[in-house]
Amino acid sequence: MRAILMAMAALAMSAAQGLAAEPQIIIKFSHVAAPQAHKSLATEHFKKLAEEYTNGRVKIELYPNSQLYKDKEELEALQLGAVQMLAPSVSKFGPLGIKAFEVFDLPYIFAGYDDLAKVTEGEVGRDLLNRLESKGLVGLAYWNNGFKILSANAPLLGPDDVLGLKMRIQASKVIEAQMWALGALPQVMAFSEAYQALSSGVVDGTENTPANMYNQKMFEVQKHATLTNHGYLGYAVISNAKFWKGLPPDIRAALERAIAETTPVANKLARDENDSAMAEMKASGRTVFHEPTPEEMAAWRNALLPVHDEMANRVGRDLIDRIYAVTGHKPATQ
Ligand code: LMR
Repeated sequence: MRAILMAMAALAMSAAQGLAAEPQIIIKFSHVAAPQAHKSLATEHFKKLAEEYTNGRVKIELYPNSQLYKDKEELEALQLGAVQMLAPSVSKFGPLGIKAFEVFDLPYIFAGYDDLAKVTEGEVGRDLLNRLESKGLVGLAYWNNGFKILSANAPLLGPDDVLGLKMRIQASKVIEAQMWALGALPQVMAFSEAYQALSSGVVDGTENTPANMYNQKMFEVQKHATLTNHGYLGYAVISNAKFWKGLPPDIRAALERAIAETTPVANKLARDENDSAMAEMKASGRTVFHEPTPEEMAAWRNALLPVHDEMANRVGRDLIDRIYAVTGHKPATQ
């Protein structure tokens, strides 16, 4: 009996030593959104699940609010392995040399969330994520933000009102073309610099989702906004391919499960926050929100839709056509 007990104790000890010998895997997850933003809440949800599903073998460290890196730097940091996970806007992959993601920026390509889901949850979305591998990255999921509205300090009732305005945009050539199509002057700028640029008058206006406009306090320095809902803003959850593929398979599977379970939560948080942000901004009275009439909406669409053909060479005609096929419609001028 004593021998059996001693053998059992020895076994327990060696198991504990085995565990202790395995170093904890630290994943630094950096992003640019505010700590209270839905993207932050989504990363917190992921952290909780990831640490639970890996029995604490993985520790997720969250770095919101561009505290480590701004837009472009964070992608470089991921490629270099200085951080292990990001959730950048898909509009920011162009400077890395992956232009196809800018298809998401084409004005009015998605009529709403159902269209979007057909792309992000289907084969087209997966094909796009796979293209990240050529840059040493791995695409793990799409998390939505929402649909963008236009803002400035004067009413924007139609494309003519945007003429000559300097507009802050993300680093996407499609968004740039969209602003040129309106006669505006696009200015690429990091998210963390947008508020200051609007407040000091370095730029006159911008486009963003209600959630981002609210969390970055842009509504405090923009007197007017128009609910054009002209384009999508959303994220790809990504990692460094070498790091991800080097993870023990059981750990990788546990993290993939945590991401998959976080995605619907992240998307719900985003929709709720876009709704509540809009309600808060309206209640604040700082910005006047204009809902376009059907005629005004037609004018916005007619001015912006030519961007699809203009940018076909950049993002790929095939890809655009695949999206029209998946959503079942090709947006048409009126
Ligand atoms: C922006 O730069 O406007 C957005 O991509 C920021 C974000 O992460 O939502």
